Amino acid sequence: MTLEIRPLSDTLGAEVTGLDLTQPLGEADAAAVREAFLDRHLLCFRSEPLSPADFLRIARLFGEPQLQLLRHRRHGEVPEVSMLESTYKRPEDKPDDLALVRLSGWHTDDSYFATPAKATMLQSLALPSSGGETRFCNTRRAYEMLDDSLKARIEGARAVHGYDTPRAPGRAETRTAEEAAETPDVLHPLARTHEDTGRKAIYFNPNRTDRVVGLERAESDALLDGLYSHMTADRFRYDHSWRLGDILLWDNRCLLHSVNTDFPVGEERRHQRVLLKGTKPV
Ligand code: OGA
Ligand code: MN
Repeated sequence: MTLEIRPLSDTLGAEVTGLDLTQPLGEADAAAVREAFLDRHLLCFRSEPLSPADFLRIARLFGEPQLQLLRHRRHGEVPEVSMLESTYKRPEDKPDDLALVRLSGWHTDDSYFATPAKATMLQSLALPSSGGETRFCNTRRAYEMLDDSLKARIEGARAVHGYDTPRAPGRAETRTAEEAAETPDVLHPLARTHEDTGRKAIYFNPNRTDRVVGLERAESDALLDGLYSHMTADRFRYDHSWRLGDILLWDNRCLLHSVNTDFPVGEERRHQRVLLKGTKPV
């Protein structure tokens, strides 16, 4: 097999073929894949649906797994793997206003932790017949294209990230007392420097970032709203149309993601996920 890496769009993403993920990666392949990950921020490996144990083995090729906060999503035998069910089981589960579905909100995983996951690995296990794309935007490129005055405003600024924020239209799932105790509000820089590339990206999680430290609410909202409309513009986007078994690995330090939650009621949409440990944002 020969390793091939092809861009999935102009702005981010690459498809990786010719790699045997059941074996440890050779040095040259590992280096090429790492370089593509740092350059494209998202890699797609085509696969069949895997057992949680096999999926975890593959995730370990790319980093150290981290447990997901919500206990009820952890797989019973392989707790590092979480099972994500996004199916609308009954008509009343799908609101007319899809913005109320939490997954349709732009976010980066885990930013309510002081040390968020650097990457997420997600595999599709069941897919609806239409819709359900996972959408990504490149906040490194969005940072680079900010005008100088906005860049200056977010330089050195910190923002409060919480488990939820009234700024997000959809509500987060309820936490148990144990989970709530593990997720007090934390502060992160608004412009984050990637530890492996030295490149800056906007680090703002619209589902979890509540406010900018030191600004009045109205001023903070205006700054965050401006960043939001800039960074989610089409020119920074790639929408992934899933094939069954696809494995995506993405960089949470410089991408946001959300879901096109317009898919039919009663059609299963299910994924398994592993989060990979990161470092404290600076
Ligand atoms: C996630 C997530 C997107 C999807 O796994 O963190 O947001 O497509 N999933 O289900
Ligand atoms: Mn997510």
